[in-house]
Amino acid sequence: MTGPEELHGVTLLAEEAAALAAMADASSVAELERLRVEWLGRRGRVTEQLRAVGTLPADQRRTAGQRLNALRALMEKRLDARLAECARRDLEQRLIEERLDLTLPSAPPAVGRLHPVTRTRRRLEDAMVRLGFSLFEGPQVEDEWHNFEALNMPAEHPAREMHDTFYLPPPYLLRTHTSPFQVRSMKAAQGRLPLRVFTIGTTFRRDDDPTHAPQFMQMEGLLLDVGIGLGHLKGVVRQVFKEVFGGDPVLRIRPSFFPFTEPSVEWDMQCTLCGGSGCRVCQNTGFLELLGSGMVHPHVIRAGGYDPELVSGFAFGWGVDRLAMLAYGIDDIRLLYQNDLRLLNQL
Ligand code: DAH
Repeated sequence: MTGPEELHGVTLLAEEAAALAAMADASSVAELERLRVEWLGRRGRVTEQLRAVGTLPADQRRTAGQRLNALRALMEKRLDARLAECARRDLEQRLIEERLDLTLPSAPPAVGRLHPVTRTRRRLEDAMVRLGFSLFEGPQVEDEWHNFEALNMPAEHPAREMHDTFYLPPPYLLRTHTSPFQVRSMKAAQGRLPLRVFTIGTTFRRDDDPTHAPQFMQMEGLLLDVGIGLGHLKGVVRQVFKEVFGGDPVLRIRPSFFPFTEPSVEWDMQCTLCGGSGCRVCQNTGFLELLGSGMVHPHVIRAGGYDPELVSGFAFGWGVDRLAMLAYGIDDIRLLYQNDLRLLNQL
């Protein structure tokens, strides 16, 4: 050991001077930490000496204490300064090593897709617009007259039984079908011809089972002009079917009854799942009921402000959710509204 050395007024032993030099030169946080423990830790060399000051002869205690405290302060200062230096250098190093390379191709974004009901709705809209029909929207909160009376369904009419709905303060209710749009669009057209309109929107009924949801979506078309007959209805409906299902679907027309059409016809399509041989989806009939339609009843034409002696027209309506079920092979309508990604990712 060489002789004592002087630094900032503190007399240093050679070892202490070497330690201070090592602290100034240390090149890593770990090394600084090791030096701190060795000298200033609980069992550190300076700490132990400080603890021993009390055992020195009384006349030496003061100088020894001062020297050691000054040494400790000096070491702390060195260590802290060097530590900050090392931390800054480590950070710079990391910034260089971990720098983002913006020229790398990025991970492909997760692309969502439209809900099957929305896709079906858009296909229907496209088909109708291509056929020259324009969109006309009516209110979801409807009044009783437009929803029932104007469509030939007076208060006591038995057909109302199938249209139980959510009633609001009279005369309002949540519309049970899109058919009120017939009278509303006729009134809006103010006698102009031809009237070629369609609507798509939410409808409500007090129903809840695998094939009926209390809130569902319907699409409805109306064509009014001079000399319109069932043949025009057949042509338009066949074309819409073709566009929505692709190919040339096998269709069947049956006589039916709706209060607002006369005559009324319903349309069935050969089951797309079993090809007509019978399955669970078509309940072994080989056909799927799809659509109600008919020639607009004279009372309805009159309610819309037209003269049924001069003009005639056809209307048709069907459930968009139901179409989506068939197009995507879903056997429970409620699945369409649960937003379960396990299902939606398959469609
Ligand atoms: N509104 C009927 C329903 O909700 C469906 C319907 C039947 C609409 C015949 C029509 C039609 O336009 O002509 O069940």
